[in-house]
Amino acid sequence: MIKIEAVNVKKSFISRGGIRKASNGGPVETLAVGGVNLKIEKGEFHVILGPSGCGKSSFLDLISGLTLPTEGTIFIDGKAIEGPGPDRAVVFQQYALLPWRTALGNIEFALENQYPDKKKREEIGKKFISLVGLRGFEDHYPHELSGGMKQRVSIARALALHPDILLMDEPFAAVDAQTRETLQRDLLRIATDTEKTIVFITHSIDEAVFLADRVSVMTARPGIIKSTVDVLISRHERLNGDIKVDERYIQIRHQLWKLLKEEVVRAQSESERSPANLLRSDYVAAAEVGL
Ligand SMILES: Nc1ncnc2c1ncn2[C@@H]1O[C@H](COP(=O)(O)OP(=O)(O)O)[C@@H](O)[C@H]1O
Ligand SMILES: [Mg+2]
Repeated sequence: MIKIEAVNVKKSFISRGGIRKASNGGPVETLAVGGVNLKIEKGEFHVILGPSGCGKSSFLDLISGLTLPTEGTIFIDGKAIEGPGPDRAVVFQQYALLPWRTALGNIEFALENQYPDKKKREEIGKKFISLVGLRGFEDHYPHELSGGMKQRVSIARALALHPDILLMDEPFAAVDAQTRETLQRDLLRIATDTEKTIVFITHSIDEAVFLADRVSVMTARPGIIKSTVDVLISRHERLNGDIKVDERYIQIRHQLWKLLKEEVVRAQSESERSPANLLRSDYVAAAEVGL
């Protein structure tokens, strides 16, 4: 069953001031998302891989309903998105936790609209704290938690809202490599147990192959879907085997590397024409594909 369908989705931004002015001095229009067509199945773990600045976050914002397309439509369960809704929750790269609330308090706060009863909020909060492996840390404040733990709280908070769809925008980009692998493993296990539909953004190829049932590679801006690749390695095998030495893993990784490399090169040459757009993550993405 199709859960999310994007039909010719475009998003452009108008910037009026600053250093970016058109030659005639007027506003500049940036086409961030260039006409995305994509279908995501219910319960699928779908990863979107693309160079920095290609429109990944802009596309995710459109699915979340925080912004609306300039052209085209995104359907959820066959209904066009008109704005944010309780069926979708977002996890960002920045933890976005309230510093004056404990881990449990942050989750309870997010539940205030859905559950007026404080006891119920606490009960749900504790359940999701356990689910993400943070039992014993309920009363810790964000500054007392590591980056990985903070991201676990963000994930618990999103899941506690009982969304059908979890939207994740480079959620593990800021944590160290070892923590990242543990978080990926736990997320894949949780995704399977809870049967969520997940749209996950990254510019890491290894992260994409480990997590995804299917990976869509986006082109450099304006981003469109260049290619969608099936990861024909079961979740069970990904969780239990050493897939990095699996022939299929190596083959998919190479295929994605080739697709992404061309786009990183294109994104970089764009940045060179406009150095103000050059981002640290361009270097990271370039390093990942070995440029
Ligand atoms: N609110 C905005 N206003 C103007 N330009 C934006 C805005 N959001 C994103 N952009 C531009 O759209 C392009 C795509 O951005 P984004 O979706 O954040 O890329 P990615 O997540 O793939 O790195 C970039 O050129 C960015 O500068
Ligand atoms: Mg982004």
